[in-house]
Parts: sequence; structure tokens; C-alpha cells
Amino acid sequence: MKLFADTANVEELEALVPLGIIDGVTTNPSLLAKAAADPRAVLKRICDVVGGPVSAEVVATDAAGMVREGRELAAIDPHVVVKVPFGKPGVRACRELTEDGIRVNVTLIFSAAQALLAAKVGATFVSPFVGRLDDVATPGMDLITQIVDIFQNFPLSTEVLVASTRGPMHIVEAARLGADVCTCPPKVIDALFNHPLTDIGLERFLADWARARQPVG
Ligand code: E4P
Repeated sequence: MKLFADTANVEELEALVPLGIIDGVTTNPSLLAKAAADPRAVLKRICDVVGGPVSAEVVATDAAGMVREGRELAAIDPHVVVKVPFGKPGVRACRELTEDGIRVNVTLIFSAAQALLAAKVGATFVSPFVGRLDDVATPGMDLITQIVDIFQNFPLSTEVLVASTRGPMHIVEAARLGADVCTCPPKVIDALFNHPLTDIGLERFLADWARARQPVG
């Protein structure tokens, strides 16, 4: 499963990318709004740092505006994947952008039916939001099970990108269910590293080693 970082913070990415575990990045208007610099310059820097797919979302709400904005975003860097919100304008824009050879991530997916429609118009990624479903007492990972099952029934090239992840178990479950990609905030990626037994184990190994090397007598 590919791991994407869900952030528009270049410094966070500069710390994560050298670890070799980050395959791409997702941003959204809320994340880009936190960056002080010009959003297009931020996106370009992210593409340079990551060297993998970087989702950049349109803010137009009509299909023609989404296509126009999507083309502008795609011109920033070949790594840009244009993100469009699900809906009739988004589906239409996805079809047009895909026909132009531009990769599209259809976002704000909350049902398997929506994912199926996005796949039909050639989306490169569909982004079901598991955390926001959990927030309204609906199991987000059940949606991933449904979408992965449906996509296995047809020769679709659309990848299931699990989004809105809130903790390590979302990532573990996404991998177990066979999702193609999981995008996570950097703090969730950090949490994947943690296990108290690893810390205790290392402490003991180092203590034993230091004791054995103390001069005798
Ligand atoms: C994904 O592409 C979105 O940017 C993101 O995962 C949304 O997460 P949130 O529900 O924590 O805002």
C-alpha cells in the first residue's frame, strides 16, 4: 500500500521524505490556507520535495471552472494530480480533465455509489473520508471494504485512496483491506513508528552492552 502525507507543510515533508516511506502528498484548500506563501509556489515546492503524486484541489464549483482551474494546477508540475469534489460538476470535470491526460483525484467520497461513478469517468484516485464517517457514528472502514470489493469486480484502473485518517489503526485496516493508498497527517505517520516494547528493548540492549564493556575490578 502506498503511503501519502496529508499536509501542505513543506518543512514537515522535508523531515518525512528522507525516511523513504512517503509515496505522495494530498493537500486540500484548508491545508493550503494554513501555508503563509502563495499556494501555487507551495505546491511547486511540495512536488520538488516529494517527486510523487501531489493532489491539489480546485475551488471552483462549476464544471467549466473546475476544468479551467484543473488545467492551471496541472501546469504547475507534472506531479500534480487535480482534486475535484464529488458531485455532477466534479464528475463532469473529471471526465474532461482525464480526456486531456490530466490525473484526477475525486474527493469527498462518502458512499460506494459515488466511488463507482468517479471510477467510471476515469478518476486516477477516489478519496473516501473514513474519519469524517467515524465522526458521525458510521464505520468509515466499512466503506473501504465495499469500494475495494466493487473495484475488484471490474477492470478499473482507479485507485482507492483512504483519506481523513485519524490514527494508526486506520492505516493498518486500510492495508489489511487492500486499499491502494492511505493518506495520513504527519502526526499519524509519526504514531506508526511508536511501540513501547521497541523503546524498552533498545534501552535493555544498550544497557547490557554498556555493562559488558565496563572495565572489570
Ligand atoms: C484528503 O485528501 C483530505 O485532505 C484529508 O484526508 C481530509 O482529512 P480531515 O477529515 O482530517 O480533514
